[in-house]
Amino acid sequence: MSKNFDVVVIGGGPGGYIAAIRAGQLGLSVACIDAWQNAKGGSALGGTCTNVGCIPSKALLQSSEHFEMAGHGFAEHGIGVEGLKLDLATMLKRKDKVVQQNNDGITYLFKKNKVTSFLGLGSFVGKVDGGYEIKVSRSGAADETVVGKHVVVATGSNPRALPNAPFDEKRVLSNTGALAIGDVPKTLCLIGAGVIGLEMGSVWRRLGAEVTVLEALPAFLGAVDEQVAKEARKAFDKQGLAITLGVKITKVATGDADVTVEYDDAEGKPQKRTFERLIVSIGRVPNTDGLAADAVGLALDERGFVVVDGDCRTNLENVWGIGDVVRGPMLAHKAEEEGSAVAERIVGQKPHVDFNTVPWVIYTHPEIAWVGQTEQALKTSGRAYKAGTFPFLANGRARALGDTTGLVKVIADATTDEILGVHMVGPGVSELIAEAVVAMEFKASSEDIGRICHAHPSLSEATKEAALAVEKRALNF
Ligand code: NAI
Repeated sequence: MSKNFDVVVIGGGPGGYIAAIRAGQLGLSVACIDAWQNAKGGSALGGTCTNVGCIPSKALLQSSEHFEMAGHGFAEHGIGVEGLKLDLATMLKRKDKVVQQNNDGITYLFKKNKVTSFLGLGSFVGKVDGGYEIKVSRSGAADETVVGKHVVVATGSNPRALPNAPFDEKRVLSNTGALAIGDVPKTLCLIGAGVIGLEMGSVWRRLGAEVTVLEALPAFLGAVDEQVAKEARKAFDKQGLAITLGVKITKVATGDADVTVEYDDAEGKPQKRTFERLIVSIGRVPNTDGLAADAVGLALDERGFVVVDGDCRTNLENVWGIGDVVRGPMLAHKAEEEGSAVAERIVGQKPHVDFNTVPWVIYTHPEIAWVGQTEQALKTSGRAYKAGTFPFLANGRARALGDTTGLVKVIADATTDEILGVHMVGPGVSELIAEAVVAMEFKASSEDIGRICHAHPSLSEATKEAALAVEKRALNF
């Protein structure tokens, strides 16, 4: 006998678990099916983000930053450290504990919001009276079936492998292996200088690896505002993160103790280099493995994404798609917004998700964060704008922190002064960007930010000053 629910969510990542919690809050009966298992075989809710993505990477970024500071940053503060040593096993254990705390947090939230959790892979069986039948299967357990009046597909994404170089998680690592290397490799190559490449490259460089990053595109961080990307590149070069642009990978050969990467460099000259480990971070592909989309005729596009409209409706009545498995940026917080909005649409509310105000953050040092349009995009579109920048070098708090790399840049419409984009590189900008998002959501002008009182001394003053600089009236620069 199938159990019936108002909503069945397939996938317990940030999109799925938020959809389930919000639906529970709204009084709907909800099931969430997720296959992720912890080492003990229990449920590990939270998806890629919690288990092998955002959360563990931030734990390792923090630990490795402490290690780097103790080794190279404390001296200028008059703090000497002798006998500094790395206990990688403890560092990785702490990361695992942080992950588990987050898994447990979601389990608690499911109980609190009366979400029924099913451990296993969810797949469509067919359309039945009252909704869709979904099978839950996992090895070692009998299949179960549930029926959902509404189904939310939130099955996320998988790392994209290079052709002929499958992930073995020993020498050729995805994000999963990159977070669990048991000893610091002497030499580490990352293919793809995107978000994962830069974050994971930073972690292992700080811990002592000689890191090489090979990127196919000729421009560094092409989607980022050029001025910010240039500033970040300068900082990474100084740190010794060796980034090579414009490469074409031709071959990856895995040996017992190393991996050889062959590529044509930007001049087209063939190169061959051997590394202890290789992390491939060239983007992700939507995950519909085992979903049996065909069983109900759920439409996928040619790249495998579940096809949805602006409101996350699929081609099937009462079937919704959210997060990495549908169009748009593969970001946890974008998935969360969609999850929440879908639950609200199911009960007839009219929520709105503004994709133009989805912030982006890269948690390197310096951090990189932005929202809205870049200067180069505005130039291409021909929209008249004015821009103001303010360097952290002129910010008192940044000087006190000893962390003055970077800048804040505010871009506003030339006529109306509406903020069109805010771009940051520097200390704490992963937090500072929130002010810019709020401002843009409220259609603020640069003058609005310039007239708001910001605490002194704080890094947030750089945002106010950059806003003032739009009218060429920064006070401290
Ligand atoms: P990405 O899309 O950020 O970067 C992939 C990079 O690989 C691009 O620069 C691309 O030009 C390059 N590339 C593609 N094919 C290549 C090839 N054959 N050879 C060399 N370079 C190649 O993807 P990434 O870093 O794998 O991350 C996956 C997803 O996870 C992204 O959508 C990202 O936004 C998300 N993510 C977000 C984080 C955050 O918000 N802080 C952290 C980590 C991941």
